[in-house]
Amino acid sequence: MTPPPSDSPVGTLHILGVGPGDPELVTLRAARILGQAPAHAFFAKRGRTGHARSIAAPHLNPAAEELRFEYPYTTELSVEDSRYAEGMAAFYDSCAATLAGRLAAGQDVALLCEGDPFLYGSAMYLFDRLRPRFPVEVTPGITAMSGCWSRALAPMVHGDDILSVLPATMPAEELAAALGRCDAAVVMKLGRNLPKLRAVLDALGLTARALYAERGTMPGEVILPLAERDDSPAPYFSLVLVPGRQGAR
Ligand SMILES: C[S@@+](CC[C@H](N)C(=O)[O-])C[C@H]1O[C@@H](n2cnc3c(N)ncnc32)[C@H](O)[C@@H]1O
Repeated sequence: MTPPPSDSPVGTLHILGVGPGDPELVTLRAARILGQAPAHAFFAKRGRTGHARSIAAPHLNPAAEELRFEYPYTTELSVEDSRYAEGMAAFYDSCAATLAGRLAAGQDVALLCEGDPFLYGSAMYLFDRLRPRFPVEVTPGITAMSGCWSRALAPMVHGDDILSVLPATMPAEELAAALGRCDAAVVMKLGRNLPKLRAVLDALGLTARALYAERGTMPGEVILPLAERDDSPAPYFSLVLVPGRQGAR
């Protein structure tokens, strides 16, 4: 592609949070930008549609160019393997280069992100790479945790309560210390960590309060007391809520 003259206007990268799953939880602003953007980009696992792409489907400009960024790994390499970090960095470099080509040519691009883009979102890796060179606008999204606690009808924090958001990948001692310092918690990225999390919550006397939420706000949603969930691996779209003190004081 011929580089544009240096005084040509560049496009804007719109990083859009599309919410936790229900397309009705896409904000009016994200829907407007999605309907107008001449190109949209999304991440997807190999062989999958792409979660953010599925959520955004009813709002997309049918004439838009579609840029699919397929993750190089699913489970082939452990995140601890140094080749994983190198491979992911090269992947994000290549995604950023693809977007940079469109932006430098003056085209706006919408980058879709499940939930809110700045909460554990892959879009942040492209933000870091492109922000120094191009205008970027970020549209916040409803997070998975707020989608889940709304569906669970679980008020989370009152007054001066402290809420912690923790990845279940933390070592048990660190999880216990963090949970011991807060009034309410959301534990994400459950995977194979449910037995460890349950043991920590049991030791802190918190299991009776904890809720398990899977595919919150989506078809196939499961919300139940953690005590009723077995210890088999949790699917990707799942989290545990530990609501704070119950009811108003
Ligand atoms: C990479 S993080 C993305 C978080 C997202 N940016 C947000 O604002 O919620 C992915 C984690 O979010 C949680 N998650 C995302 N969507 C969910 C849903 N609909 N129901 C339950 N958990 C969900 C899971 O814990 C999953 O491991």
